[in-house]
Amino acid sequence: MSVNKDIKRITTHTIQKMKANGEKIAMLTSYDYSFAKLIDSAGIDIILVGDSASNVMAGHETTLPITLDQMIYHAASVVRGAKRCLVVVDLPFGAYQGNSKEALNSTIRIMKETGAHAVKLEGGEEVIESIKRIISAGVPVMGHLGLTPQSIYKFGTYTVRAKEEAEAEKLQRDARLLEEAGCFALVLEKIPAMLAKNVSASLHIPTIGIGAGGYCDGQVLVMHDMLGITSEFKPRFLRQYLNLNEVVSGAVQQYINDVKKGAFPSATEQY
Ligand code: KIV
Repeated sequence: MSVNKDIKRITTHTIQKMKANGEKIAMLTSYDYSFAKLIDSAGIDIILVGDSASNVMAGHETTLPITLDQMIYHAASVVRGAKRCLVVVDLPFGAYQGNSKEALNSTIRIMKETGAHAVKLEGGEEVIESIKRIISAGVPVMGHLGLTPQSIYKFGTYTVRAKEEAEAEKLQRDARLLEEAGCFALVLEKIPAMLAKNVSASLHIPTIGIGAGGYCDGQVLVMHDMLGITSEFKPRFLRQYLNLNEVVSGAVQQYINDVKKGAFPSATEQY
């Protein structure tokens, strides 16, 4: 029996109950009103307004350039379209790393100006003070460990993280710290499936994996990747449910042909 079947609005508490009941959590990214409305109506549990907007919406190579103002614009659009799911917003690079006061100020702007329900930020021990300060202000926080794309220039590559014992141990320590600090959920990105399994089993809060295998309590994908809009990005963990690139390209070519031939508009498509 689904925890959230008759629910009007999914909350962080619903998400935690889902883990307790063994019900998997489905999360997708979204960045605009129309897709948020579609995905929400389809029954998604959580929309993440990810800073991957920097890649898929703005065409940047990394997530670093996107600003707090730009994230607020995307998040406010998503919130207008999402009536039932939980909406979580990424704190962008540069909006929380300085100190915990800056982290709280950025969070307050997101909460006041977008109407979203929670924030997500990357890192463990290094950002724990910020996480505690945001939670003590009454805002739910989702953690993010493993491959943390805002640190790409430190890592040097987007390959699987925490394959070595020392990094795996740090990740497990950080996961416990995040739970103790009060995070309501935790994203695990691109780590070995068995490590994600251990972390998921050791925590009460749900883990949501991307490239972290099937033992996580939920899964997240970037919407543009799973719909096949970004057709050139095909990592092993990605399941592409649609080739929207092909569908849209076909429709646009048909439209161009119709216009060129004078077949559009027809007599019934004019006044
Ligand atoms: O920004 C994003 O889309 C994310 C997900 C990949 C988890 O952080």
